[in-house]
Amino acid sequence: RTDGDGRRVFDLTARAGRHDFGGRTATTWGFDGAYLGPTLRAKRGERVVVNVRNELAETTTVHWHGMHLPAVMDGGPHQVVTPGETWSPTWRIDQPAATLWYHPHLHGATADHVYRGLAGLFLIDDDTAPGLPARYGVDDVPLVLQDKSFDGDGLDNGGAFLSDVGVLGDEMLVNGVRAPYLDVRTELVRLRLLNAGNARTLNLVFADARPFDLVATDGGLLDRPHRLTGLLLSPGERAEVVVRVRPGERAVLRSERPDRHPDGFQGRFQGGSDRFDILQVRAAGTLEPSPPLPAAFGPVDLPDPAQAVRTRTFDLSGTRINGANMDLGRIDVAATRGTTEIWEVRNRDGSPHNFHVHDVQVRVIDPVSPALSGRKDTVFATPGQVLRLAVRFDGPADPNVPYMYHCHVLRHEDNGMMGQFVVV
Ligand code: C2O
Ligand code: CU
Ligand code: CU
Repeated sequence: RTDGDGRRVFDLTARAGRHDFGGRTATTWGFDGAYLGPTLRAKRGERVVVNVRNELAETTTVHWHGMHLPAVMDGGPHQVVTPGETWSPTWRIDQPAATLWYHPHLHGATADHVYRGLAGLFLIDDDTAPGLPARYGVDDVPLVLQDKSFDGDGLDNGGAFLSDVGVLGDEMLVNGVRAPYLDVRTELVRLRLLNAGNARTLNLVFADARPFDLVATDGGLLDRPHRLTGLLLSPGERAEVVVRVRPGERAVLRSERPDRHPDGFQGRFQGGSDRFDILQVRAAGTLEPSPPLPAAFGPVDLPDPAQAVRTRTFDLSGTRINGANMDLGRIDVAATRGTTEIWEVRNRDGSPHNFHVHDVQVRVIDPVSPALSGRKDTVFATPGQVLRLAVRFDGPADPNVPYMYHCHVLRHEDNGMMGQFVVV
């Protein structure tokens, strides 16, 4: 739908409901439906408006994770939507094709709102023709991955007192479905993966260890396909992979114990010893041939560290960044529009965190790996690890309204592991 000003219009209504997850029914929240929300899709250059209507009994917000847009449209903790109210942010899509997502960001309640089911995908298209499988739901399949614990009748994230990361579910949902499978009828399948879990980092592999091609990370396509057999995906991160199937076979996507990962980490209370089958891919007896993947996709728009005007450090410890908890009235960083900075993020803890920055897509300078290449907005940090990021502030400037940076383990975020930056 397009309005009189030529803007593409989306409507998202947050409300409570009951959802059948497949053999388990629970009280949930969703956008439009009872659980999760519709996939929104728009093209680079388009102007969009989203009418976010809150029919819940409490205040929430909706944040566009990975989107480059004015701070006042960002849907962070300052852009609250009270019960009965409709908030209609509008912006121009101005970034390459990517798999983004949206979710609430009410300070102190993000973990609860997301866990109840408020989340959805926002896909961006552009004019580049990368030669990837692109038939939505056929050979281009979105997979919203969430670990859940069905405790009693509800989806309550309030427990897990022993865990410093919050609830770790004991089963995996894909698009809100338990024990899911996917029927495919093409040789190549593109999976758009989102870790929409609150705390658990997934260590994705196929059960038979088959290789797959990583073609995109958070903010869009990589320079070329990268052949991998495993991929870490921490909360908030996205990845697009292309996998080949043979006629009639079953291939199982699994999350292997993260402590089995070469760059892995230990920790029972961070889910380090858990293994889950996520999705069974069922190939038809006869498969449509797929064109081979291109050898390269072309240049990736990334900040240039040689242009950096300064370095800032961010020490992650407990639920603090640089020793401080989130203060909605304090601006932690003022960056100058058009400049590039080096952000050095240091995990000072014995447990994992990750680091997400609003509005921008960063270049990970260190460590270097295919999974950290391309445009990233959320980066996992193992215990003791130091991340070096090049961040370019493309604006627009607004000295009064901040963007957020934070750990995307949602209990950490709610407990104040977040800071605010403005672009001036
Ligand atoms: Cu996905 Cu600040 O959030
Ligand atoms: Cu975000
Ligand atoms: Cu954290």
